[in-house]
Amino acid sequence: MTISPNQPESGAGGESRLRRRIADEIRRDGPIPFSRYMQMCLYEPELGYYSRSREQFGKAGDFYTSSDVHAVFGRLLARQFEEMWRALDSPQGIDLIELGPGRGLFARDVLDWSAKQFPEFSRALCYALAEQSAHLRERLQERLAEHLAAERARVFESLEAAASTAGENIIVFGNEFFDALPVEVVDYRGGLRIGLENGKFVETFDRPTAAEAEFLDRYSVHPDAGERVEATLVALEWMERIAEAFQGKRGFLVAIDYGYTREEQLAGRHRDTLMSYRQHTVSTSPYEAPGEQDITAHVNFTAIRERGVQRGLEPVALLTQSQFLIGIGEETEFADAFQECELPQERAKVALQLKHLISPTGMGETFQVLLMSAGVAKEKAAGLSGLRLERI
Ligand SMILES: C[S@@+](CC[C@H](N)C(=O)[O-])C[C@H]1O[C@@H](n2cnc3c(N)ncnc32)[C@H](O)[C@@H]1O
Repeated sequence: MTISPNQPESGAGGESRLRRRIADEIRRDGPIPFSRYMQMCLYEPELGYYSRSREQFGKAGDFYTSSDVHAVFGRLLARQFEEMWRALDSPQGIDLIELGPGRGLFARDVLDWSAKQFPEFSRALCYALAEQSAHLRERLQERLAEHLAAERARVFESLEAAASTAGENIIVFGNEFFDALPVEVVDYRGGLRIGLENGKFVETFDRPTAAEAEFLDRYSVHPDAGERVEATLVALEWMERIAEAFQGKRGFLVAIDYGYTREEQLAGRHRDTLMSYRQHTVSTSPYEAPGEQDITAHVNFTAIRERGVQRGLEPVALLTQSQFLIGIGEETEFADAFQECELPQERAKVALQLKHLISPTGMGETFQVLLMSAGVAKEKAAGLSGLRLERI
């Protein structure tokens, strides 16, 4: 048993209430799986990191996502969604379901740009935002008020609620959705459980559950002494839910996130990817300030792709964000980024933002794009511009 460092006895009101609530659960049930601890830290109603009424995103928050960098991220994706709509034979209606839209910046950029550049697609598009946080759903209502009033967009609490009102053609999209799902942590001693000692959270290790052991066998690696890996079991459940949402429908899944493949893990990389963020700095411990900091883990793309295949989805591609965005934008020389720039200084600024999204030193190589499809002819899926660089 090792005592985790840097735990204040109590913090801000919300933090100590959440800390007490987690401690009460451990007293009642014994040590809890790490995924349960992470679930409470991030999503406990009113107290969890994403459930509380505070700024998590952007400059005033704890981290940036691609949509904070520049609207071009959403605009390039709008271009790709329009191609997907055409690959589905330009149906009269298409539902784009976004998982975990957060504040709705991406949705706003996609809806605005589609209306401006792709009017036919825009007329067919209905944008469904599936966001579990009540507080963030309120913010979506404000940010997207115009689109909601025009019935171009709708806000839902879950994927299932969004899918149940969708028509036959759908695109399911998530940016940094999978990395925010609770994970199990496994080291050479077994599965990590969180216990309590003298009022402080302590790490204990138990024999891995059958599900954890099977996950390592199939999709990950068995950690050596001193190493940790994550078993992303909740992400597998999500792939099952997504595949279920495609039942009786056709379309595409686009999942963008930082992540890795099993091959990369076998080569010794991407072990222990759990990170905590607070005010744009990496925090030393996930136990430091429950509910006050983001906790995230990189996505095991081998695992989610395989589970999707097992449940009937077709794998289309796994490529870097850089390859994907360059593939979409190069033919128009990234007109989506520069079209509204009037001054050379504006162009220079946008060029830097674009560079951040696509360069290996920015977000271009750490972020991967997983594309899957359902009921789409292989050649049509393979012809998407986002896959252009993959074909070379
Ligand atoms: C890291 S944030 C990403 C936000 C946004 N996609 C972006 O790129 O800025 C993860 C989001 O997923 C949401 N989320 C987590 N679990 C969810 C669930 N079960 N259903 C719907 N949304 C969920 C969180 O509330 C949060 O808004």
